[in-house]
Amino acid sequence: MTSILSSEITPEQLFWQRRRLLALPLLAGAGVLLNACGAADAPTSDAGATPLPISAGVVSTTKDELGNPLTPFETVTGYNNYYEFSTDKERVKDAATGFVTTPWSVVVDGMVAKPRTFGLEDMLALESAERIYRLRCVEGWSMVIPWTGFPLHALLSLVEPTAAAKYVRFETLNDATRMPGQSEPWYQWPYVEGLRLDEAMHDLTLMATGVYGKPLPAQNGAPLRLVVPWKYGFKSIKAVVRITLTDTQPTSLWMAAAPDEYGFFANVNPRVDHPRWSQADERRIGELGRRPTLPFNGYKDQVASLYTGMDLRKFY
Ligand code: MTE
Repeated sequence: MTSILSSEITPEQLFWQRRRLLALPLLAGAGVLLNACGAADAPTSDAGATPLPISAGVVSTTKDELGNPLTPFETVTGYNNYYEFSTDKERVKDAATGFVTTPWSVVVDGMVAKPRTFGLEDMLALESAERIYRLRCVEGWSMVIPWTGFPLHALLSLVEPTAAAKYVRFETLNDATRMPGQSEPWYQWPYVEGLRLDEAMHDLTLMATGVYGKPLPAQNGAPLRLVVPWKYGFKSIKAVVRITLTDTQPTSLWMAAAPDEYGFFANVNPRVDHPRWSQADERRIGELGRRPTLPFNGYKDQVASLYTGMDLRKFY
């Protein structure tokens, strides 16, 4: 490990040019009342019905593996949940403008043989995947998003988790001077999320560094955010600065804020309703009407075996 991170000495323009060269084509195609996704429903505007702005960036396909069209770039980057900046989804983009993400580093520590601090460029060098994933918010809306990034297991294998490690805890930057929403007293900052180690090592679990073939915008969690497509969107923590391997189940921000409403696993499940609304269907942003919600958000074949023997009604 070098004492000066390469991302601190690389001019930004050169840095992003390098980053684009590192992006490779599709490897796998295959996500106050304390609401984890803000207001109770998606906007009724038909903004999502506009033609796909593929020119926004390079994407290798316009549909997910189920034939669903990508949600337009403007919607993916203009309708966001990010309480560190605003609780109003349509204001997050403006509120996050100017959020500085270079230099950036991520500490990976805890129950690992080789704890390490990764500079942003180290992590961008791992970037190797474009993944088209459905994002299903616990509030009942969804999008289809083309991410770029790297599978989390690529990072974790570099630090060598020990046999005692059972969970992975993720933490967002904690700095109210840069994230004004962290001055709000009703959440326990920083934003924290967690996965079981086998969930974290699953190939679908992505660390996203880009969207639509472009660097991740601040409002989507720049420079690095988790994406776990079979779980509700609140698990996909943004602006990650620390990843800790542990033998104790982490308590997420949402579990601490509303333990009766948000659990640790939070797998998308149309048969387990939120205490205040049904999870049986959802509104795909840009579509009129609602569509049935799929078990595990449509990734059942890939991930159901992780939960063999568990009562999925109990282990929400
Ligand atoms: N991460 C942090 N740090 N803060 C947040 O408020 N919101 C979560 C998740 N990650 C959130 C977060 C929720 S509720 C959702 S639905 C997704 O981010 C939304 O991601 P998107 O804005 O890229 O669509």
